[in-house]
Amino acid sequence: MSFARITGTGGYLPEKVLTNHDLEKIVDTTDQWIRERTGIEKRHIALEGQTTVDLAERASRQALEMAGVKPEDIDLIVVATTTPDRIFPSTACLLQSRLDIHGCAAFDVQAVCTGFIYALGVAEKFIKTGGSKKALVVGAETFSRLLNWEDRGTCVLFGDGAGAVILEADDETGILSTHLHADGDYEALLRVPFGVSQGMEQMDDINSKVEMRGNEVFKMAVNTLGRIVDETLEANNMEKSDIDWLVPHQANIRIIQATARKLKMSLDQVVVTVNEHGNTSAASVPLALDVAVRDGRIKKGEMLLLEAFGGGFTWGSALLRF
Ligand code: ACO
Repeated sequence: MSFARITGTGGYLPEKVLTNHDLEKIVDTTDQWIRERTGIEKRHIALEGQTTVDLAERASRQALEMAGVKPEDIDLIVVATTTPDRIFPSTACLLQSRLDIHGCAAFDVQAVCTGFIYALGVAEKFIKTGGSKKALVVGAETFSRLLNWEDRGTCVLFGDGAGAVILEADDETGILSTHLHADGDYEALLRVPFGVSQGMEQMDDINSKVEMRGNEVFKMAVNTLGRIVDETLEANNMEKSDIDWLVPHQANIRIIQATARKLKMSLDQVVVTVNEHGNTSAASVPLALDVAVRDGRIKKGEMLLLEAFGGGFTWGSALLRF
């Protein structure tokens, strides 16, 4: 049975930048509050007309180039997104067409901020069981479209972007394990309270945007991510000291610091992009991975722990040798 190994990464952030000072003009907030409570300094926002598949295409082309893989050799496309271009076709099918790929399986997964870890876990199983040799796995979001720009408790936290990886079958190493979880009992703490089956007419309403009880989500995220670190290490008979890099979901610097403390890791071994990108939901982990691969911090052969927590609640991790 093969491993699934990441052979290329890519990322894309829209050109438009929204700083904390810009937000001070929109809602009753301050740069200082946002920095101290979240670590965020700025986020990128998709231009009018720029959609999730536009961002996904840019990130995917970069990942293909780094892996040296031609689009026509891709035999599986999995896109994690909460903000698809269309109800259907899926964003994965739209991306497939953009990349001039034909015939392979292409589908979306929806696990909000944990979406990329879910997509990675699904694609890994295709590769391990021989159903795919070269997969394109993407996390892409235009999360800004889901925000209530009058709610200071949520609109300061999120941004748009896309990250992508190429996963290839490898006889030697790659993903060692993925751990995917959910508990649907927590909808009330974090949700968008409307959807298609309730009728499309409410969708423009300001009350049909992201709602979050941030403080309660924060506590759940810290506790749950601590547990999944233990679960992942135990499943692989590994010690904390075996991990070279933590690549966490980028929601809040205080949540990231708590997970790093749990791993007894210094922040120098943690990839942090939340200051620059905000929370890009499903795009956050692959974007952070791409940043640290491209700037040379993460090197081939190193041990990486990827983890995320998000709406659902959903949470998950992946342990891999890069
Ligand atoms: N600017 C200024 N004040 C604010 C702002 C703001 N942007 N937002 C909230 N406040 C105020 C509140 O109204 C409250 O005021 P009060 O004391 O007068 O009532 C005060 O700040 C404290 O509010 P808390 O919510 O208790 O602040 P907290 O320290 O918990 O920080 C935050 C809020 C940043 C949202 C934090 O709870 C958090 O990061 N939660 C987790 C979010 C997360 O991880 N989401 C991940 C999943 S996202 C997904 O899946 C889509």
